[in-house]
Amino acid sequence: MKKQDRVLIFDTTLRDGEQAPGASMNDREKLEIAFALERLGVDIIEAGFPVISPGDFASVVAVAKNIKKSIVCGLARSIKKDIEAAHAALKAAKCGRIHVFLATSKIHLDFKFRKSQDEILAMAVDSVKLARGLMGDIEFSPEDASRTEREFLYRVLESVIKAGATTVNIPDTVGYSIPEVYGQLIADIKNNVPNINKAVISVHCHDDLGLSVANSLAAVKNGARQVECTVNGIGERAGNASMEEIVMALKTRADYFGVTTGINTKEILRVSRMVSKATGFLVPPNKAIVGHNAFRHESGIHQDGVLKERTTYEIMSPDDVGFVGTSLILGKHSGRHAFKERLKVLGIELKENELDKAFERFKAVADKKKQVFDEDLLAIVDDEAQTADQVWSLERLVYQSGTAVEPSVELTLKSKGKTFVKKATGDGPVDACYKAIEMITGIKGALLDYSIQSVTRGEDAIGEATVKVEIEGVSYIALGASTDIVEASAKAYVNAVNKAIGKRTR
Ligand code: KIV
Ligand code: ZN
Repeated sequence: MKKQDRVLIFDTTLRDGEQAPGASMNDREKLEIAFALERLGVDIIEAGFPVISPGDFASVVAVAKNIKKSIVCGLARSIKKDIEAAHAALKAAKCGRIHVFLATSKIHLDFKFRKSQDEILAMAVDSVKLARGLMGDIEFSPEDASRTEREFLYRVLESVIKAGATTVNIPDTVGYSIPEVYGQLIADIKNNVPNINKAVISVHCHDDLGLSVANSLAAVKNGARQVECTVNGIGERAGNASMEEIVMALKTRADYFGVTTGINTKEILRVSRMVSKATGFLVPPNKAIVGHNAFRHESGIHQDGVLKERTTYEIMSPDDVGFVGTSLILGKHSGRHAFKERLKVLGIELKENELDKAFERFKAVADKKKQVFDEDLLAIVDDEAQTADQVWSLERLVYQSGTAVEPSVELTLKSKGKTFVKKATGDGPVDACYKAIEMITGIKGALLDYSIQSVTRGEDAIGEATVKVEIEGVSYIALGASTDIVEASAKAYVNAVNKAIGKRTR
């Protein structure tokens, strides 16, 4: 049997993904995501664009220092200072890569650069030579490749490979291509760039027409051996190709594609949740692979089919991507050991003191809820993680609200062993809570976004509130979970305040 080719997975959640409006992540979140991507088995992590800001530089340094198995990549324009900054940020990396890009399409040359093709070609070659002098692993991207004049694209690719590029990426920067055309582009590159076998062909597709995954897969079918993608498909504008969809399509239809990846698919759901929490971008319930409903069967005919033979209506198994089921697993009589063991099954290992706190929360939830599901446990652990280094914590909350009364709240916060109580009124009980929190902490914030989602089904389900709050010019995304949605909302806001204090302190 022919050995299957390996397709490299290049994850750019921390770079292109973070370019999604409103998706900025803090250093701790980025490092946690990098660890999760490494555990997932991605081949290359694009950690950021070091020259852009001292913050971006520092986060690439942190990822480079800590990640040992994946290649860590930094982005650079075809400019000396960008390439030197990327090199400096990647110094500590076990395996580093500089990713140099330069637009090559006529529209970019005419309007963005006002330069000729020959000038652009010289810039591309010089920058790749400079980068290659600093590092052995160099990727070059002719930005807007899918709209670049063919003969010029071939010339650029041949020249940058000669100059030392080890990977050539073919970005569909504006998501304009369609699968047949994009697949053919990759085939044509293979046939028309004489030294193409000296480099890996990579693809990077945007989702403006909802075709990024289809385009990437067509490219693989035609010989691309690296796919650039992001967790949950986040990225500029409509986003990038979704990592989980690419990986599961290649795995599920290995019969068609005949390739493998190095991804441990069981880690997919965990990293998807992590990115959703860090960015505040909720995953739609019908999202392929990681959506809440992706493996749920509602119709009686389907349920009957699945019970008789799972494959009648399921092409993948939910546990292949990390779903661990929603069966009733623990109740108020369950002990600490059972709780710890169940968390282990869910891939969570806590330190003893964290376990104590999470167990206490579990008992409180189990007292209120008849049934405690895996999703509830994950929400409890996430909620506890949010409050790990908190300055303020919610101690008590009493509110009144209704059709004929002014919403009001009496809220108690705790800080350094002392309690502080305030009463407030507002447009609703949540607004009243936020006013009371502001009065107590003295920290003024503007609520930019708010959402509430139930973690499981049923009237007694845990609600998870996500808030995006601007404090002192910086926006913070924070979560709070409780069976009471006003309490969940108040906790989320307190967590945002704690994040702002943490940033101030740092
Ligand atoms: O979309 C794009 O062209 C990019 C490049 C920097 C690869 O993100
Ligand atoms: Zn992009």
